[in-house]
Amino acid sequence: MATIYVLMLLLKLVISSHQEQCVISKYEDVESVISNCTDIAIDDLIVPSATTLTLNLQEGTKVTLRGNISFEFGYWSGPVVLIAGSSLTVVGEPGAVFDGQGERYWDGQGTWSTFEKPRFLRIEARDSMFSNIKILNCPVACSKINVSSNVIIDNWTIDNLAGDEGVAPPQKFAHNTDGIQVRASTNVTITNSSISNQDDCVAINSGSNFLVEGLYCHGGHGLSISVGFENATFAENSVDNVTIRNCALVNGENGIHIKTHADATNGRISNVLYENINFEGPVLYGINIQQNYRNLPANGTMDPTPVGNIPIVNLTFRNIVGKVAASAVPVYIICADGACLNFDWHNVSVTGIKPNDCNFNPEGYKC
Ligand SMILES: *[C@@H]1O[C@H](CO)[C@@H](O)[C@H](O)[C@H]1NC(C)=O
Ligand SMILES: *[C@@H]1O[C@H](CO)[C@@H](O)[C@H](O)[C@H]1NC(C)=O
Ligand SMILES: *[C@@H]1O[C@H](CO)[C@@H](O)[C@H](O)[C@H]1NC(C)=O
Ligand SMILES: *[C@@H]1O[C@H](CO)[C@@H](O)[C@H](O)[C@H]1NC(C)=O
Ligand SMILES: *[C@@H]1O[C@H](CO)[C@@H](O)[C@H](O)[C@H]1NC(C)=O
Ligand SMILES: *[C@@H]1O[C@H](CO)[C@@H](O)[C@H](O)[C@H]1NC(C)=O
Ligand SMILES: *[C@@H]1O[C@H](CO)[C@@H](O)[C@H](O)[C@H]1NC(C)=O
Ligand SMILES: *[C@@H]1O[C@H](CO)[C@@H](O)[C@H](O)[C@H]1NC(C)=O
Ligand SMILES: *[C@@H]1O[C@H](CO)[C@@H](O)[C@H](O)[C@H]1NC(C)=O
Ligand SMILES: *[C@@H]1O[C@H](CO)[C@@H](O)[C@H](O)[C@H]1NC(C)=O
Ligand SMILES: *[C@@H]1O[C@H](CO)[C@@H](O)[C@H](O)[C@H]1NC(C)=O
Repeated sequence: MATIYVLMLLLKLVISSHQEQCVISKYEDVESVISNCTDIAIDDLIVPSATTLTLNLQEGTKVTLRGNISFEFGYWSGPVVLIAGSSLTVVGEPGAVFDGQGERYWDGQGTWSTFEKPRFLRIEARDSMFSNIKILNCPVACSKINVSSNVIIDNWTIDNLAGDEGVAPPQKFAHNTDGIQVRASTNVTITNSSISNQDDCVAINSGSNFLVEGLYCHGGHGLSISVGFENATFAENSVDNVTIRNCALVNGENGIHIKTHADATNGRISNVLYENINFEGPVLYGINIQQNYRNLPANGTMDPTPVGNIPIVNLTFRNIVGKVAASAVPVYIICADGACLNFDWHNVSVTGIKPNDCNFNPEGYKC
């Protein structure tokens, strides 16, 4: 699928290379350029406060990101950038950056403070490729792929390092800065990317057919499957067919995190493979599989009762090696009665000082 798709994109590039490139350097030009042009460069743009840079693109459009694309300050909910369309190719040039200037918003409380902070990038696309994109310092929620299909994300850098506790000034650290979230989408591939942040590195929320490969995560909350955001349909609370492989994580809260939200209506997580994952230094959990997740502020305490609203079926782990901080539980599994089925784990080794804590034993792994 991916190979044929990349060939199609290359063909389109060759065909479109004869047209002249249209450049957007002033916000006023966005509307006319995107309606008249399919080869666009965005070059050193400043987007006005509380305005979504809406790139609702014509089919087959190529967008080149160049220079510093930045956003005037404002307390609002975002998204700051929306890219929508089909058969798109969006490529960052070396040195190009979306500068979210999160340092002006961070207050240690993420989305829980009294000030609304703008969610950053949203993608709603079909048959599209987004590569070499760099996002610097997002206020909260760095990127979200929503209602998309056949999308490739390759070679991204999300750099929120300046928001880490101990790096940012006291009480001015970042929180809820998820790297890449995927919701209501099918056939999404995320490869070769580096994410330094203060929430999930990647979070798969709903949909099917996901491949995540070659990620480096620093300081975040793990490679996550986080399901159950809605009182909605079964599909909206379900994830099927996920492969996450060849990834490394350093520091942060968790290595691998699968969480089902206890307050959602019914759904299911099925057919998930984590393979060749290495992590070092998480302070809460190495592997955390919990059916008792409740979304809380940074200092909240949680009701620990698991709920079986979203069973986890067919969870395979292969070649997972981790070393956790002294404060962390190496492996934590809390399942509701009968709601974890067919966990097949081989060559999983997570070391730490605290004991494991499991109410369910995967086949092939003694918790
Ligand atoms: C581009 O399209 C707009 C309609 O969105 C039109 O009004 C405008 O004249 C076009 N500009 C150019 C340079 O073709
Ligand atoms: C981008 O531009 C903004 C506004 O001029 C500036 O404040 C910011 O420092 C620039 N970012 C980078 C990475 O150059
Ligand atoms: C990855 O993206 C960066 C720009 O962020 C670029 O400089 C680099 O060449 C890209 N790497 C590959 C292998 O394309
Ligand atoms: C995702 O897209 C759906 C359909 O357009 C929309 O209703 C929803 O608000 C979007 N959600 C997010 C979090 O982007
Ligand atoms: C996802 O990929 C599969 C296999 O290539 C394909 O059959 C299916 O149509 C794709 N789904 C969507 C929604 O495009
Ligand atoms: C990711 O990087 C690997 C190794 O450099 C490369 O083989 C692969 O093609 C890249 N993935 C994509 C989607 O470009
Ligand atoms: C699972 O998803 C992958 C893409 O990650 C796709 O290649 C494969 O066909 C899917 N399998 C099924 C049974 O749909
Ligand atoms: C679903 O509805 C219940 C009752 O109104 C509410 O307590 C819960 O938070 C909702 N869950 C979600 C995920 O929105
Ligand atoms: C917990 O955080 C909330 C807001 O994030 C704050 O209002 C409250 O005072 C904090 N509580 C404690 C006990 O620190
Ligand atoms: C779990 O895996 C088995 C064996 O591959 C398969 O038959 C079954 O349909 C899977 N369950 C779900 C819910 O997909
Ligand atoms: C176990 O996993 C580690 C880390 O991925 C790998 O280096 C090692 O070769 C694996 N051992 C076996 C027997 O597969």
